[in-house]
Amino acid sequence: MTDIQRAARFYYLLRLSFGSRVDRHNFGLQRQRKPRINLIRLEEDLSDIHLRLCNVTIENLPYDNIITRYDSPDTFFYLDPPYWDCEKFYGPGIFNKDDFIKLQALLKAIHGKFIMSINDVPEIRNIYKDFIITEVFTRYSISKEHNKNITELLISNYNLPQINLGTKNNEIFENNLGTGFC
Ligand SMILES: C[S@@+](CC[C@H](N)C(=O)[O-])C[C@H]1O[C@@H](n2cnc3c(N)ncnc32)[C@H](O)[C@@H]1O
Repeated sequence: MTDIQRAARFYYLLRLSFGSRVDRHNFGLQRQRKPRINLIRLEEDLSDIHLRLCNVTIENLPYDNIITRYDSPDTFFYLDPPYWDCEKFYGPGIFNKDDFIKLQALLKAIHGKFIMSINDVPEIRNIYKDFIITEVFTRYSISKEHNKNITELLISNYNLPQINLGTKNNEIFENNLGTGFC
Protein backbone atom coordinates (compact mmCIF):
# COMPACT_ATOMS: atom_id res chain seq x y z
CA MET A 1 0.00 0.00 0.00
CA THR A 2 1.33 3.48 -0.83
CA ASP A 3 1.34 6.33 1.71
CA ILE A 4 -1.50 8.00 -0.23
CA GLN A 5 -3.62 4.83 -0.13
CA ARG A 6 -2.90 4.46 3.59
CA ALA A 7 -3.88 8.11 4.19
CA ALA A 8 -7.14 7.63 2.25
CA ARG A 9 -8.06 4.58 4.35
CA PHE A 10 -7.13 6.36 7.57
CA TYR A 11 -9.31 9.35 6.64
CA TYR A 12 -12.22 7.07 5.71
CA LEU A 13 -12.09 5.24 9.04
CA LEU A 14 -11.59 8.43 11.03
CA ARG A 15 -14.67 10.07 9.52
CA LEU A 16 -17.01 7.09 9.59
CA SER A 17 -16.09 5.06 12.63
CA PHE A 18 -17.74 5.36 16.00
CA GLY A 19 -15.90 7.90 18.17
CA SER A 20 -13.32 8.35 15.34
CA ARG A 21 -11.61 5.15 16.40
CA VAL A 22 -9.34 3.87 13.66
CA ASP A 23 -8.58 0.64 15.49
CA ARG A 24 -11.34 -1.72 16.68
CA HIS A 25 -13.64 0.49 14.60
CA ASN A 26 -17.40 0.23 14.30
CA PHE A 27 -19.54 2.08 11.82
CA GLY A 28 -20.87 5.16 13.64
CA LEU A 29 -24.53 5.19 12.65
CA GLN A 30 -27.04 7.86 13.59
CA ARG A 31 -30.49 7.54 12.09
CA GLN A 32 -31.09 11.28 11.78
CA ARG A 33 -27.65 12.20 10.45
CA LYS A 34 -26.11 12.08 7.00
CA PRO A 35 -22.91 10.04 6.58
CA ARG A 36 -19.90 12.11 7.67
CA ILE A 37 -18.07 11.68 4.40
CA ASN A 38 -19.02 13.16 1.04
CA LEU A 39 -16.57 12.42 -1.75
CA ILE A 40 -17.73 15.41 -3.82
CA ARG A 41 -16.76 17.72 -0.94
CA LEU A 42 -13.50 15.95 -0.17
CA GLU A 43 -11.32 18.65 -1.70
CA GLU A 44 -13.02 21.44 0.26
CA ASP A 45 -12.90 19.42 3.48
CA LEU A 46 -9.18 18.74 3.08
CA SER A 47 -8.62 22.39 2.19
CA ASP A 48 -10.41 23.49 5.41
CA ILE A 49 -8.24 21.08 7.42
CA HIS A 50 -5.15 22.36 5.66
CA LEU A 51 -6.01 26.01 6.40
CA ARG A 52 -6.73 25.21 10.05
CA LEU A 53 -3.46 23.36 10.51
CA CYS A 54 -1.06 25.36 8.34
CA ASN A 55 0.39 27.23 11.35
CA VAL A 56 0.32 24.20 13.64
CA THR A 57 3.23 21.90 14.46
CA ILE A 58 2.11 18.36 15.26
CA GLU A 59 4.44 16.33 17.46
CA ASN A 60 4.15 12.64 18.21
CA LEU A 61 6.09 12.37 21.46
CA PRO A 62 5.52 11.28 25.04
CA TYR A 63 3.94 14.03 27.17
CA ASP A 64 7.02 14.50 29.39
CA ASN A 65 9.17 15.21 26.36
CA ILE A 66 6.67 17.75 25.00
CA ILE A 67 6.24 19.55 28.32
CA THR A 68 9.97 19.84 28.95
CA ARG A 69 10.71 20.93 25.39
CA TYR A 70 8.01 23.59 25.08
CA ASP A 71 7.82 24.99 28.60
CA SER A 72 8.56 28.72 29.08
CA PRO A 73 6.90 31.58 31.01
CA ASP A 74 4.88 32.29 27.84
CA THR A 75 3.70 28.73 27.21
CA PHE A 76 0.13 27.59 27.70
CA PHE A 77 -0.46 23.82 27.85
CA TYR A 78 -3.86 22.25 27.39
CA LEU A 79 -3.64 18.65 28.57
CA ASP A 80 -6.25 16.05 27.76
CA PRO A 81 -4.76 12.79 29.09
CA PRO A 82 -6.56 9.44 29.17
CA TYR A 83 -9.22 9.33 31.86
CA TRP A 84 -8.48 7.69 35.17
CA ASP A 85 -9.37 3.98 34.79
CA CYS A 86 -9.24 4.34 30.98
CA GLU A 87 -5.44 4.35 30.69
CA LYS A 88 -5.34 1.37 28.34
CA PHE A 89 -7.85 2.88 25.92
CA TYR A 90 -5.12 4.23 23.61
CA GLY A 91 -2.98 1.09 23.65
CA PRO A 92 -1.12 -0.93 26.26
CA GLY A 93 1.90 0.54 28.07
CA ILE A 94 1.48 4.10 26.75
CA PHE A 95 -0.02 5.60 29.87
CA ASN A 96 -0.37 4.06 33.32
CA LYS A 97 -1.76 5.20 36.66
CA ASP A 98 1.80 6.13 37.72
CA ASP A 99 1.85 8.64 34.89
CA PHE A 100 -0.74 10.76 36.69
CA ILE A 101 1.76 11.16 39.54
CA LYS A 102 4.66 11.79 37.15
CA LEU A 103 2.58 14.35 35.26
CA GLN A 104 1.66 16.11 38.50
CA ALA A 105 5.35 16.48 39.43
CA LEU A 106 6.19 17.78 35.96
CA LEU A 107 3.37 20.32 36.06
CA LYS A 108 4.47 21.50 39.51
CA ALA A 109 7.81 22.54 38.01
CA ILE A 110 6.72 24.29 34.80
CA HIS A 111 7.10 28.03 34.20
CA GLY A 112 4.08 28.26 31.88
CA LYS A 113 0.37 27.90 32.50
CA PHE A 114 -1.73 24.80 32.05
CA ILE A 115 -5.29 23.52 32.06
CA MET A 116 -5.98 19.81 32.21
CA SER A 117 -9.40 18.25 31.64
CA ILE A 118 -10.04 14.93 33.34
CA ASN A 119 -12.76 12.80 34.87
CA ASP A 120 -13.87 13.54 38.40
CA VAL A 121 -12.64 10.72 40.63
CA PRO A 122 -11.24 10.90 44.18
CA GLU A 123 -7.81 9.65 43.07
CA ILE A 124 -7.37 12.54 40.60
CA ARG A 125 -8.62 15.08 43.14
CA ASN A 126 -6.07 13.75 45.60
CA ILE A 127 -3.07 13.64 43.23
CA TYR A 128 -3.76 17.16 41.90
CA LYS A 129 -4.91 18.71 45.20
CA ASP A 130 -2.12 21.36 45.12
CA PHE A 131 -3.59 22.89 41.96
CA ILE A 132 -6.82 24.76 41.35
CA ILE A 133 -9.64 22.32 40.67
CA THR A 134 -12.77 23.58 38.91
CA GLU A 135 -15.85 21.42 38.38
CA VAL A 136 -17.56 21.43 35.00
CA PHE A 137 -21.01 19.95 34.55
CA THR A 138 -21.36 18.45 31.14
CA ARG A 139 -22.71 15.44 29.28
CA TYR A 140 -21.16 12.53 27.49
CA SER A 141 -22.72 12.86 24.07
CA ILE A 142 -20.68 10.54 21.87
CA SER A 143 -23.33 7.84 21.85
CA LYS A 144 -26.97 7.49 22.81
CA GLU A 145 -26.23 4.80 25.40
CA HIS A 146 -23.57 6.88 27.17
CA ASN A 147 -25.48 10.16 26.98
CA LYS A 148 -25.62 11.22 30.63
CA ASN A 149 -24.85 14.15 32.91
CA ILE A 150 -21.43 13.99 34.49
CA THR A 151 -18.92 16.17 36.30
CA GLU A 152 -15.52 16.75 34.77
CA LEU A 153 -12.60 18.58 36.31
CA LEU A 154 -10.51 21.40 34.94
CA ILE A 155 -7.22 21.40 36.81
CA SER A 156 -5.05 24.48 36.40
CA ASN A 157 -2.13 26.37 37.92
CA TYR A 158 -3.90 29.74 37.65
CA ASN A 159 -7.36 31.11 38.35
CA LEU A 160 -9.66 30.47 35.45
CA PRO A 161 -11.76 33.40 34.22
CA GLN A 162 -15.41 33.23 35.21
CA ILE A 163 -17.20 31.39 32.44
CA ASN A 164 -20.40 29.40 32.30
CA LEU A 165 -19.26 25.95 33.34
CA GLY A 166 -22.67 24.35 33.09
CA THR A 167 -25.34 23.56 35.60
CA LYS A 168 -25.77 20.23 37.29
CA ASN A 169 -28.60 18.19 35.72
CA ASN A 170 -29.29 20.91 33.17
CA GLU A 171 -30.50 18.99 30.10
CA ILE A 172 -30.23 21.95 27.74
CA PHE A 173 -26.77 23.32 28.32
CA GLU A 174 -23.92 21.31 26.85
CA ASN A 175 -20.45 22.79 26.87
CA ASN A 176 -19.00 19.84 24.96
CA LEU A 177 -15.81 19.88 27.02
CA GLY A 178 -15.78 16.15 27.42
CA THR A 179 -17.02 13.63 24.95
CA GLY A 180 -14.80 10.71 25.86
CA PHE A 181 -15.69 7.52 27.65
CA CYS A 182 -14.34 4.05 27.78
C1 LIG B 1 -8.45 11.92 25.91
S1 LIG B 1 -7.41 11.70 24.51
C2 LIG B 1 -7.15 13.28 23.89
C3 LIG B 1 -8.09 13.58 22.80
C4 LIG B 1 -7.79 14.89 22.09
N1 LIG B 1 -7.85 16.02 23.01
C5 LIG B 1 -8.77 15.05 20.96
O1 LIG B 1 -9.67 15.89 21.08
O2 LIG B 1 -8.64 14.33 19.99
C6 LIG B 1 -5.86 11.27 25.26
C7 LIG B 1 -4.69 11.31 24.29
O3 LIG B 1 -3.47 11.09 25.02
C8 LIG B 1 -2.60 10.37 24.17
N2 LIG B 1 -1.57 9.73 25.01
C9 LIG B 1 -1.67 8.59 25.74
N3 LIG B 1 -0.52 8.34 26.38
C10 LIG B 1 0.33 9.36 26.06
C11 LIG B 1 1.69 9.67 26.42
N4 LIG B 1 2.38 8.88 27.24
N5 LIG B 1 2.24 10.78 25.92
C12 LIG B 1 1.53 11.58 25.08
N6 LIG B 1 0.25 11.36 24.72
C13 LIG B 1 -0.33 10.25 25.20
C14 LIG B 1 -3.52 9.37 23.48
O4 LIG B 1 -2.94 8.89 22.30
C15 LIG B 1 -4.74 10.25 23.21
O5 LIG B 1 -4.64 10.87 21.96
